[in-house]
Amino acid sequence: MEELLSHPDQETHLNFSPKEITTKVTTGIPLTTEEIAYIVNGYTNGSISDDSMTDWLKAVFEKGMSHRETLDYTRTMLDSGATLNFNHLNGFVVDKHSTGGVGDKISIVLAPLLAACGCIVPMIAGRGLGHTQGTIDKLETIPGYKADLSLDTFQQNVEKIGVSIIAQTGQICPADRKIYALRDITNTVASNPLICGSIMSKKIAEGIQGLVMDVKVGQGAFMKNISQAKALGNLLQEVGELYGIKVAICYTDMNQPLGKKSGLFNEIEESIDCLKGEGPDDVMKVVYHLGKQALLQQGDRNPLDTMKSAIYNGRAFEKFREIVIAHDGDLTSLKTKSLHTPTCQFSVKSPETGVIQSIDTLALGKAIVQLGGGRIQKTDVIDPTAGFTIYKKIGESVEEGEVVIEFYCSTNSKLEKVIKDSNDLFRVNNETPPEHPLIIS
Ligand code: URA
Repeated sequence: MEELLSHPDQETHLNFSPKEITTKVTTGIPLTTEEIAYIVNGYTNGSISDDSMTDWLKAVFEKGMSHRETLDYTRTMLDSGATLNFNHLNGFVVDKHSTGGVGDKISIVLAPLLAACGCIVPMIAGRGLGHTQGTIDKLETIPGYKADLSLDTFQQNVEKIGVSIIAQTGQICPADRKIYALRDITNTVASNPLICGSIMSKKIAEGIQGLVMDVKVGQGAFMKNISQAKALGNLLQEVGELYGIKVAICYTDMNQPLGKKSGLFNEIEESIDCLKGEGPDDVMKVVYHLGKQALLQQGDRNPLDTMKSAIYNGRAFEKFREIVIAHDGDLTSLKTKSLHTPTCQFSVKSPETGVIQSIDTLALGKAIVQLGGGRIQKTDVIDPTAGFTIYKKIGESVEEGEVVIEFYCSTNSKLEKVIKDSNDLFRVNNETPPEHPLIIS
């Protein structure tokens, strides 16, 4: 009943009720532009409760949204906060975003790398979502790193060093900040309209000229097959281009974790390796593939050479250091080997000799959440030590008793739960495994 009451800036919505709007969704009646605005703004300003919003999200998750509704939803999310403009700067303003995966640390490598190659990168990134870990949660494991900067400071950082990585704030896409956190704990993530609104509102608000989207496909992604992924990719492209942004959509494999380390702080460590030219091949392959699209948009004729020289002459890592300093992070902490050392760990051994056929990447992502690397409740505090190191990937040979993965965190009871479910994570036999090209297109 309370939710029917007028809100100061919602006088015209007096007759709306979240329940009726949700019923319209469940019965397949399209929502009007005003109804979508009412729901999104009402939840953002607190006049619609978590429970009512959850019902609406679940209805949309189940029934989807029309094209027009998705555009309305995205625009309302965008209009919930401020938008930026970097046209006064001398450089191509570009960003990269991923739909999320396990071990996906590409943004942490690519943002400084692109800035080191002359791009302007105002990146608004996400926290953990569902079984995937977020760029912001990972960056916040660097002692002192502030992701909730004011708009002014974000803008100053971008103007000064060409790059900054923040979370959605009270000023930029506040609607996404609240709705994202609720989707995370209500199993309403893998929905094309909700993903589109979430991603594109943040990206359009950044005032970018170019966008590279990494749409992850596979068992450990929200998009399980290429046709689902293409439906999302096309939607993201269309919305971006409507706002005058050059959009490159890349489809990459998520049937196994990216890199060797997945989790929280361990992904910062692996990202630093990448920025120093010592990163795992699969991570670097995706970094270069996505980076190439951004630099081509910028007009660079030799994008690969540009990126490699920025890595090998130290400029890319130097840019990362500049980001950490600009966000009040403690640089010395990146050097101490003892930072975020987990207090408990467990190694999973292969039960047989053979070739790795498949890896339950979704279960691995969920295991990180279980270890404390994600949120089960909105208020959960992240354990920076949570994660795993994977030693064997699909197509690699393994001996019986050989360690295939090691889990770690700092709460024994959490680790015990993961140990209980660790039996069927890897399928091993002597067949030729299915091929999973890392770069699909
Ligand atoms: N990344 C986002 O920012 N939002 C989503 O909904 C999914 C991935």
